[in-house]
Amino acid sequence: MGQWKYSVLRAVSLLAITLSLFPAARAQGPSASPTKVIFDTDFAVPPQDDATALMLALKSPELNILGVTTVAGNDTVQRATSDALRVLEIAERTDIPVYEGFNRPWLHEKTEFATKVHGKWWSDEAPPMPPGGFAKKKAESESAVTFLIRAVERNPNEITIIAIGPLTNVATAIRQKAGFAKKVKKIVIMGGAFASLADGSGNVTPNAEFNFWVDPEAAQVVIRSGIPIVLTPLNVTSKTDFSKASYDKIVAADTPLTRLIKQTMGPWVEKHPTMHSQMYDQLTVAALVDPTLVKTKDLYVDVDINHGPDYGTSLGADRVWEGAEGAVKVSVQYDVDANRFLQMFTERITSK
Ligand code: BDR
Ligand code: CA
Repeated sequence: MGQWKYSVLRAVSLLAITLSLFPAARAQGPSASPTKVIFDTDFAVPPQDDATALMLALKSPELNILGVTTVAGNDTVQRATSDALRVLEIAERTDIPVYEGFNRPWLHEKTEFATKVHGKWWSDEAPPMPPGGFAKKKAESESAVTFLIRAVERNPNEITIIAIGPLTNVATAIRQKAGFAKKVKKIVIMGGAFASLADGSGNVTPNAEFNFWVDPEAAQVVIRSGIPIVLTPLNVTSKTDFSKASYDKIVAADTPLTRLIKQTMGPWVEKHPTMHSQMYDQLTVAALVDPTLVKTKDLYVDVDINHGPDYGTSLGADRVWEGAEGAVKVSVQYDVDANRFLQMFTERITSK
């Protein structure tokens, strides 16, 4: 089955996606001060991968999460905000503020196709009650974009953005504030798929990956922004594998976070014991913590924003080609030590 048959694979993938964690690879060294990060996400509780990616970040002392910014993607932005607040409450990390972002991509319109494939980015329906009820703490009144700009202005060249949803918030900050891009230390992005590398099929159209496809114009602005970029495309996530064995290991550890995973994923995993799924957003976080987990190569990258059959497709090559004069050199992950990644993920997610 083609990987782009995303709607069919989605439930399975999200389950596997949700459950990754890593052993304590100390790429940074114990004495380095934690990297300041902003976590930009189309969040939902497990089995959504954004949720276990956040758990991994919370359990990584190498990272200092200044705030979570939400965006429409996998679901509505309202759900992203509500579920992020709830997971932070369960993790007893309500000190981390949540800022709500865009409820729609810039230009991508709802179509019949969009409503049939994965994701409710086109909807404004009210969020479902998360497990255990809505979090007591609300989102901040400041918007995601205003927070991104304010935080980066206050911490020039110190903040790494972890972007694991459509890039609407980040692209708007770039467009809204002159000089913003120059003051961002780095952005690590789960997005894209490259036909010029192995395993480069898309997961929502034949060549387009979901996050880039939801807001292709925003993805292009971020890629061309000049911010140092590390991309986690489908080429590398397709080499990851989350199975019931890993799920069992995780839920055997009885912590508030693993209890949440058990509650939201358990029934599905028990029904599908042979399940295997990819881990997307978790790999972006893991490779930020320990870059030795992945192999990367520098490619000139751009995004197709023509509203045709290739809308949202990412392209990459080792040189600029005709028509891609705007392409920018980006570090692209293409291989991963999948076992070490899974071990790190599992160890960290289960830690008390
Ligand atoms: C990406 O799409 C989202 O649904 C996942 O959370 C991940 O960020 C994979 O294409
Ligand atoms: Ca995501």
